[in-house]
Amino acid sequence: MKNILITGGCGFIGSNFIRLALQKIPACNIINLDKLTYAGNLQNLADIESDGRYKFVKGDVCNSSLVTKVFAEDCIDTVVHFAAESHVDRSIEGPAAFVQTNIIGTFTLLEAARKAWLVNKQSPPNQRFIHVSTDEVYGSLGETGYFTETTSYDPRSPYSASKASSDHLVNAYYHTYGLPTMITNCSNNYGPYHFPEKLIPLIISNAINGRDLPLYGDGSNVRDWLYVIDHCSAILAVLEGGRLGETYNVGGNSEKRNLEVVETVCDILDTTAPPLANGLPRRSLIRFVKDRPGHDQRYAIDAAKIRNELGWSPSVSFEDGIRRTIEWYLANPDWVQGVCDGSYQNYYKSMYGERLPAQSEVRA
Ligand code: NAD
Ligand code: DAU
Repeated sequence: MKNILITGGCGFIGSNFIRLALQKIPACNIINLDKLTYAGNLQNLADIESDGRYKFVKGDVCNSSLVTKVFAEDCIDTVVHFAAESHVDRSIEGPAAFVQTNIIGTFTLLEAARKAWLVNKQSPPNQRFIHVSTDEVYGSLGETGYFTETTSYDPRSPYSASKASSDHLVNAYYHTYGLPTMITNCSNNYGPYHFPEKLIPLIISNAINGRDLPLYGDGSNVRDWLYVIDHCSAILAVLEGGRLGETYNVGGNSEKRNLEVVETVCDILDTTAPPLANGLPRRSLIRFVKDRPGHDQRYAIDAAKIRNELGWSPSVSFEDGIRRTIEWYLANPDWVQGVCDGSYQNYYKSMYGERLPAQSEVRA
């Protein structure tokens, strides 16, 4: 029986991961530690709440005494660390939360794992600490080339700098203390439960409702898109077979310019959603707006290492994944509405009888 601590499990990728892990690892207990920031949504896991193998703990990964208690009480032997402030635009407006959660939070978890596993030997051997990170730590590419695991770190935003810092701490704990860590650096995810502040869910939600579709700069920036379930299966593959102390790059082999992504969403919605009130195609909603400061031009992952060592490769093409994603958003208008009007935060009260503390501004 694995006792898996998932941090940030109420967010986009964490919630998809918990659902997949419960399916793929029958002999596991999952403890989901999440602070429920604006990005955490308990409704993302409503369908598995009653699974006896799942437990939710509301709390901050920076809270050392709480994290230590969770390690002891739940005899944690595996950590999959998702919790982070994850939105680049927010990191430009307010970097402090990124430094706190992404750096101090990761440090707090590493320390708790070190004390529980290496000092107090609270759980049997074969522990694993997987740190979920991003390709943004490598900086920006020109027209050609790919990020490999040996590409030098060159983060450009407060978000990517905080993730780079956390990656360095994780590697330091492996080399210094022998903590059994592994890191995944993944490209842009998309799919169900994606908070509509990020490009794809924002565009889907706005295009359904006939609102403007903001494209930063000239829309020529390139991202390597990966369907979220493929990212989750890559993390499971690393958990099962990855080598300790190693980094695995994860990518979709699916580079697209932002303009192409937005036009694809518009075209699919024109055939699957009710037409706009003015009868125009949805591409008419596209607006080129002021660019993001320090906007990285291109990301592209070379995923040869995880493919060759662990046999993982993406199973969902962008064409298929974007259709599935749009279908999910069309089929779940209440989820989108709840996130946009903030009412998703009432779910916690209905489940646990308490009010959530004041949340940061919801900008969906
Ligand atoms: P998200 O913003 O959707 O979710 C983050 C979750 O972490 C939320 O549930 C939030 O409540 C929780 N959280 C935030 N601060 C916390 C704290 N101090 N203590 C406990 N919980 C806290 O993020 P996501 O897009 O699901 O990303 C998850 C992880 O994957 C992040 O570490 C991110 O850097 C990494 N990543 C994301 C992508 C992507 O495309 N979204 C790609 C590569 C890597
Ligand atoms: O590469 C992995 C990273 O992908 C993750 O580590 C981050 O957590 C995740 O948020 C994502 O970062 P990006 O900055 O690439 O994602 P975002 O969806 O914010 O933007 C994608 C691209 O679209 C980027 O080039 C900026 C652009 N964009 C974004 C928004 C929100 C727009 O043109 N308009 C927008 O309104």
